[in-house]
Amino acid sequence: MNHILTETKDGILRIEIDRPDKKNALTAAMYQAMADAIKAAESDAKVRVILIHGKADLFTAGNDLQDFLDNRPRDDDRPAFQFLRNISRAQKPIVAAVAGAAVGIGTTMLLHCDLVYAAPNARLQLPFVNLGLVPEAASSLLLPALVGYQRAAELLLLGEPFSAQVAKDIGIVSAVVPEDMLLETALAQARKLTQKPAASLRLTKQLMKRSFAAAMAEQMELEIGHYGELLGAPEAKEAFTAFFEKRKPDFSKFD
Ligand code: COA
Repeated sequence: MNHILTETKDGILRIEIDRPDKKNALTAAMYQAMADAIKAAESDAKVRVILIHGKADLFTAGNDLQDFLDNRPRDDDRPAFQFLRNISRAQKPIVAAVAGAAVGIGTTMLLHCDLVYAAPNARLQLPFVNLGLVPEAASSLLLPALVGYQRAAELLLLGEPFSAQVAKDIGIVSAVVPEDMLLETALAQARKLTQKPAASLRLTKQLMKRSFAAAMAEQMELEIGHYGELLGAPEAKEAFTAFFEKRKPDFSKFD
């Protein structure tokens, strides 16, 4: 079953996350499909803008926790990391429409999008510490730079959900848009971008990111190293198991 739907029309590549029964949690196959779609779009003249969205009440619950529990290969080139590398390096503009749960990578990927629209029902969350993990997508660098250290620390160390309005106030989200207008607004903004000169867009994006591009890439690789180690640690196993057993994790037995 393909849970990532893609369609290119009028210069816009739409990437839709479509696995509502599991809250759009992302499996390795889904990451791979998104990574490949972004990579192909970069060299496809028919695509001028990429739009990522989920459902009217759901963006994504982040990485599939069952995938984490299963013994998947933990190499640094696995699909989730390919997706992050591709989205962070994309030269074409990326628009995101966010509603409902936007957990983990559902929030961190937004730091690599250019225009982000969120519905009032959006609930963003960076729960990496709660899962015994560390942040990814260079969010441990980008977030403090964007919102200041203490606000980033609150979001990353406590890992509690926050609203679309808070996300807008701190600069992760461009605008909060009513649910029933979310996708249409994101599409309309994407359409505007398709009509602009592609080279100017590409260079402007590159210029805005130039001063921190190297540091961002380095941080992402550092995070990937720690993430890989911690995924195999007992704290993470306890957190994932607790989620499926619908109980609070107990970290008291670990140093
Ligand atoms: N991985 C795998 N399955 C997930 C999932 C995830 N990240 N998030 C949700 N699901 C599954 C649930 O196990 C449940 O499956 P079931 O119906 O077979 O039991 C189904 O999706 C519905 O989830 P549920 O928790 O009942 O929905 P909710 O509306 O009460 O809560 C969330 C929604 C997103 C707040 C909650 O599911 C959640 O916190 N998910 C985990 C988020 C997370 O930690 N992601 C990893 C980030 S790195």
